[in-house]
Amino acid sequence: MSDQPTTPASTELARGLAGVVAGRTAVCSLDGDLRYRGYSIGPLAEAADFEDVAYLLIHGELPTALEHRSFSERIRAAAHGIAPEVFEALRVLARMAPDCSPMDALRTGVSMLGQVELDLTPPPHAALVAQAERLLGQVPALLAAWIDIAAARPVAPWPDRPLAAALLERLTGRIPTPEEVAIFGTTLVLYAEHEFNASTFAARTVVSTGSDMHSGIVAAIGALKGPLHGGANEQVLEQLAAIGTADRAGPWLEEQFATRRVVMGFGHRVYKDGDVRAKLLGRLCSRLVAGVPDGVVGRSSGAGDGEALESLAAKVEQMMLARKGLRPNLDWPAARVYHALGLPVCVFTPIFVVARMSGWTAHIIEQVGDNRLIRPLSLYCGPPPREWLPRDSRESR
Ligand code: COA
Repeated sequence: MSDQPTTPASTELARGLAGVVAGRTAVCSLDGDLRYRGYSIGPLAEAADFEDVAYLLIHGELPTALEHRSFSERIRAAAHGIAPEVFEALRVLARMAPDCSPMDALRTGVSMLGQVELDLTPPPHAALVAQAERLLGQVPALLAAWIDIAAARPVAPWPDRPLAAALLERLTGRIPTPEEVAIFGTTLVLYAEHEFNASTFAARTVVSTGSDMHSGIVAAIGALKGPLHGGANEQVLEQLAAIGTADRAGPWLEEQFATRRVVMGFGHRVYKDGDVRAKLLGRLCSRLVAGVPDGVVGRSSGAGDGEALESLAAKVEQMMLARKGLRPNLDWPAARVYHALGLPVCVFTPIFVVARMSGWTAHIIEQVGDNRLIRPLSLYCGPPPREWLPRDSRESR
């Protein structure tokens, strides 16, 4: 094969690939409305459970009642079936670094699952789908197990309930109310899929080389961890805690603007007129906080009680729009919902991982099914051509 580069179709540079169409997908569209495989996000957020949406993304159609039941059972079986050696290995790591981010534990955990499960390459379609379903159940169970392991507790069993209820129960250590399960499930539906975002693109790039699904997911978890992507939901609560009260929002924001720091939970690469998911969840968040009794809301961090936090959030929202013309993205209400449910901040981004497993695996299956190596070009901006210098004749700098 020639070393000569092929002529680029275009030498125009799009920083951060902004506005570049990098491939085709049938999984999701962001054209005006957000749609998963053609279904608008509004009705899905209102009426579907996470299993409905995960099945839709991975299999391409909404499940019948029978399909839903057996899919849910397969996910639950996977959650129960993690090899104890994986937990043992995490226990060793927890002793070395008990305060590491649960995102690191998930990244390592998925990597270990890939090692013990032996991915087939090239994988038949049915094997990829089965692997996707297993990961859907294994990842939330890994997260809950890590929280136990980091606290030096035995790993509690995975509850025999739908995924949203089971995960919320495991992460809070109590039986959640149906209302709490409903809004938590809605966050999973909203986080499930979002086209060619950075983590999904990372996963597709990895498997486009012929690599395996677990490697793609490990890359995706690493990409999601960053604060400009999934890590933003944890930063939202840290920032609200740092501001403290609504009267301090103005000076705090001006300081951010003056030092050119971004305000977490605002802005989006694609939605320039507001994130449809943030609008949907923002309304539900206000209702949740208004309906939750004192002492339940706001108990997990220093970010304040629910009503006070909502007033602060409203003030920040107003000022961001007035000063910067920026509207919230999904992480803005999601962080407040998780806080109101009593979840610790360190599990906010891992919950995003649990939900996005459905979208990532759907994209991996799609990429493998119609693959071409993802390999873009760069615009060179280094020194002009130079002559090689033997070591002895190089001048010290
Ligand atoms: N706070 C303050 N300013 C922001 C901002 C924010 N959250 N988001 C964008 N801006 C500013 C940019 O700095 C830029 O200002 P400039 O023109 O003076 O340089 C301007 O708005 C336009 O930004 P844009 O180029 O459209 O942003 P992007 O597409 O490169 O970045 C994000 C998108 C999501 C990375 C960015 O909005 C951000 O960092 N948001 C905070 C992190 C976050 O919530 N991430 C989750 C995303 S779902």
